[in-house]
Amino acid sequence: MRIKSLMILLMCAVLMFTAACSGNNQKNDADSGSASSDTAGNSENGSKTDGKSIVIYFSRVGNTDFPADVDALTSASIRIDNGTVKGNAQLMAEYIAAEAGCETYEITVEEPYPVDYDETVNLAREEQNKNARPALKNDTINTDEYDTVYLVFPNWWADLPMPLYTFFENHDFSSKTINVFATHEGSGFSKTVDAVKKLEPKADVNEGLAVRGANVTDEEQSIRKWVKDN
Ligand SMILES: Cc1cc2nc3c(=O)[nH]c(=O)nc-3n(C[C@H](O)[C@H](O)[C@H](O)COP(=O)(O)O)c2cc1C
Repeated sequence: MRIKSLMILLMCAVLMFTAACSGNNQKNDADSGSASSDTAGNSENGSKTDGKSIVIYFSRVGNTDFPADVDALTSASIRIDNGTVKGNAQLMAEYIAAEAGCETYEITVEEPYPVDYDETVNLAREEQNKNARPALKNDTINTDEYDTVYLVFPNWWADLPMPLYTFFENHDFSSKTINVFATHEGSGFSKTVDAVKKLEPKADVNEGLAVRGANVTDEEQSIRKWVKDN
């Protein structure tokens, strides 16, 4: 009798042990599940920066207080698209962002450029001669979040518009990829790609496309193709 009781106790102990072990396994499974989902979460956070792209652009539109009734014919280089004023570099930026599936960030100056085209041309020349650094408005971008930048701007006097010098001196793009795109009226990139390389010597700076501003809408497909292929 005593042996029988002992056997039953032993069996119960074995059963309780097995149940406890299986409970632990379930807990461990659950733990490892949450660990892997944590890991997935981390890698998701990682992939927030891994491969994340942004289009950073500068355009005369967005840096000029055009009157509501501005006329595209009398204000060179702007386009009026369903009542909205657009710049050539802005349109290029929009095509790139649409193809890359990323957001855009516009570089804007504190002090807008003159509405008159020729006055802007002269002021930009003056800024270049003085090696000026025009102050930027809301220069709040956190570049740490991005790995690839599509940089879009108009060629100004065969160089970057001076606000881009301010921008690159404010931010560090080391180890990031910068694909350079310009709009122009005949000069192509001029020295702009080299200028970006000098400003960001530790970035991987690539020549994208230089498109004549007047043709930018006709070039939408070739702009998108470059983004798709690179
Ligand atoms: C201040 C200024 C300087 C310019 N300098 C040049 C130049 O040196 N070479 C060129 O091909 N086009 C030049 N352009 C023409 C612009 O690069 C061209 O119109 C561009 O498409 C404008 O883009 P946006 O509308 O986005 O500002 C200049 C335009 C401005 C306003």
